[in-house]
Amino acid sequence: MKRTTFSEHQRHIGIIGHSISHTMSPAMHTSAFKKLNLDYNYGVMDVSPDMLPNLISALRTLNFRGANVTIPYKEKVIHLVDEVSEEAKIINAVNTIVNNNGRLIGYNTDAHGIYISLAYYAEEIKNNHVVIFGAGGAARAAVYAVAKFFAPKRIMIVNRTLENASAIAKEFGPKFKLTKFFATNDHEVTIREINVAALLINTTSVGMKPLININPLPQDAVIQKDQIVLDIVYNPIETTLLKFAHHAGARTVSGIEMLLGQGAKAFELFTHHDFPMHTAREVVLKELMHVKGSNT
Ligand code: ATR
Repeated sequence: MKRTTFSEHQRHIGIIGHSISHTMSPAMHTSAFKKLNLDYNYGVMDVSPDMLPNLISALRTLNFRGANVTIPYKEKVIHLVDEVSEEAKIINAVNTIVNNNGRLIGYNTDAHGIYISLAYYAEEIKNNHVVIFGAGGAARAAVYAVAKFFAPKRIMIVNRTLENASAIAKEFGPKFKLTKFFATNDHEVTIREINVAALLINTTSVGMKPLININPLPQDAVIQKDQIVLDIVYNPIETTLLKFAHHAGARTVSGIEMLLGQGAKAFELFTHHDFPMHTAREVVLKELMHVKGSNT
């Protein structure tokens, strides 16, 4: 059994969530600490909702440096920390908490993960059309990152529940003047938007293990070879959407890039060291070969 020893020297970090047995974060961060010879311990803190406030409070003690936060608590912890970054406020989710001498600061590094995943294609996305599938927390981070870092002409948010997509479009509209935001759950509109988009992003869990044979796009959608497709699902590594896009000759970006990108930013906030990307990537790929389902 893995033992956690509380000492004066070793600093603690953990991932806070519920039902997160397949989280990739411990392996990813532990490999990075080892590579840089840093004395940190990274654990899994699976808590029920009623215990969450006490656990967040405890991060101020016991030599905790902070925590990552995943489902279902990214929104709830906003109200439990002492300060929230501008980015996390706009996205309305905190996925990283840093303990600065007893003061807890909440950050969102998911937007950085999206930025890192797509930075290579910045010129192609700028002033072009983007379609984002889903309207949950991950979609908010994607809409924010794409609008802020790549300034597309328009972003269409496609979601089965129109109200959720419309709420994001309405909220982000006034914040980013170079981009127009729209929402739809209409089949024809979705097909039309897919046809003219430079970039498609899936932020839903559609295609994630164990239900790997499904795809968030309408059945009659066509992907073209000049398009870019990012699927934030990373388990399986090549989702049905990415296979479909790959087959069409499109450029594909795996959710592993977002996983590593958000992890890198969190690691830098915790340690003030550069993230050893190569080492972490190898470990995450190895882990993914062996698990059935996962979250950050
Ligand atoms: P996260 O915070 O990880 O984004 P979430 O808040 O549960 O997770 O959001 C998941 C998004 O994927 C939602 O927009 C959800 O659609 P609804 O707004 O209609 O609930 C979408 N989603 C999840 N499963 C889906 C499915 N099987 N088909 C279509 N959309 C799905």
